[in-house]
Amino acid sequence: MGGTNRILVTGGCGFIGTNFVRLVMEGRDWEVVNLDALTYAGNPANLADLEGDPRYRFVHGRIEDAGLVAELVAGVDAVVHFAAESHVDRSILDAQPFVVTNVLGTQVLLDAARRSPRLRRFVHVSTDEVYGSLGPEDPPFTEETPLAPNSPYAASKAASDLLARAAFKTHGLPVVVTRCSNNYGPYQFPEKLIPLMIANAWAGRPLPVYGDGLNVRDWIHVSDHCRGVLAALERGRDGEVYNLGGRCELTNLEVVRRVLAAVGRPESLITHVADRPGHDRRYAMATAKAEAELGWRPEIPFDRGLAETVAWYEAHRDWVRAITDGSYRDYYRRMYGDR
Ligand code: NAD
Ligand code: DAU
Repeated sequence: MGGTNRILVTGGCGFIGTNFVRLVMEGRDWEVVNLDALTYAGNPANLADLEGDPRYRFVHGRIEDAGLVAELVAGVDAVVHFAAESHVDRSILDAQPFVVTNVLGTQVLLDAARRSPRLRRFVHVSTDEVYGSLGPEDPPFTEETPLAPNSPYAASKAASDLLARAAFKTHGLPVVVTRCSNNYGPYQFPEKLIPLMIANAWAGRPLPVYGDGLNVRDWIHVSDHCRGVLAALERGRDGEVYNLGGRCELTNLEVVRRVLAAVGRPESLITHVADRPGHDRRYAMATAKAEAELGWRPEIPFDRGLAETVAWYEAHRDWVRAITDGSYRDYYRRMYGDR
């Protein structure tokens, strides 16, 4: 998208948002406004080194705040919308924050966007989970696969995807939706599989694998995902959906084994625990459309990406310690007991 000067990134203090803001600040001369509520998952320290850069502005606030959002959206050429409640297990414990942020918050952003004469692109960042679950022999999800979300998280994301679609169809808002598979890499909150397993392996704590551990996820390094979102912002067609994925299907047990090998801990730490309710069996993404239209493809092989990720967490133990205090301990105990 030529002529972009300033973008609004929502959720820029979370895992993927942080990586995306860094990618843009390093590779483009754009100004970035980062709107983030700093929930448990948002960490202002992630981008603290950018404070003072005249091209970067952090705004502490919620995407459901219509007045604030209208003011911010009016001053930008594009919105890249990452902010969300993102963890499936938390949506099973309490779905309401997921509806407020993911559904209502997205609509507030879309409303502000369609009223802004300046706005030329709205990228809605979504997930493969909206498609539901695949059987072992099924072909990967395409953009034509019907939506069939199974968790409250996935249902709230599917609702927001459809609101984005409606804003395009009804109001002509230049929306592009990206749907990506499981990300891993630096800055991921340790409630998610890979950083949780790294932290437990360090501590010699059991590694809690849900059910038989044979659920399959399609893993992609976060930097590959962020390049895909940027490509969709710059080269996506209005009203289109683009699947992004890593072409790397692995069972959870295989991922956990590779984490243990990378950290140098024994497989005897693996412990099977009760399965996640409604646990999707398999995700896999067909990415031919993004490759053909956006000129994008995933580049980082899983083993290299995992080794770099483990090294990043090793070098950032203080970062992990700071965010796993307090409320995270309560959450961990509720999920996994005193193990
Ligand atoms: P995250 O939980 O790490 O970060 C979410 C960020 O949003 C946090 O900084 C949080 O403070 C902020 N936020 C939450 N509620 C907010 C609100 N009401 N107003 C403003 N800010 C708010 O999430 P993530 O893993 O970085 O995911 C980012 C986006 O990418 C989400 O939309 C998610 O659905 C999507 N996605 C994630 C993955 C993945 O594997 N993590 C894969 C595909 C798509
Ligand atoms: O597929 C994209 C999605 O990936 C994103 O939309 C979500 O925001 C993101 O959280 C992620 O969802 P998952 O549920 O797939 O990720 P999670 O890391 O929670 O779990 C990955 C797999 O590992 C899943 O099959 C559940 C399993 N698991 C997870 C945890 C936290 C375990 O076996 N044990 C655990 O302790």
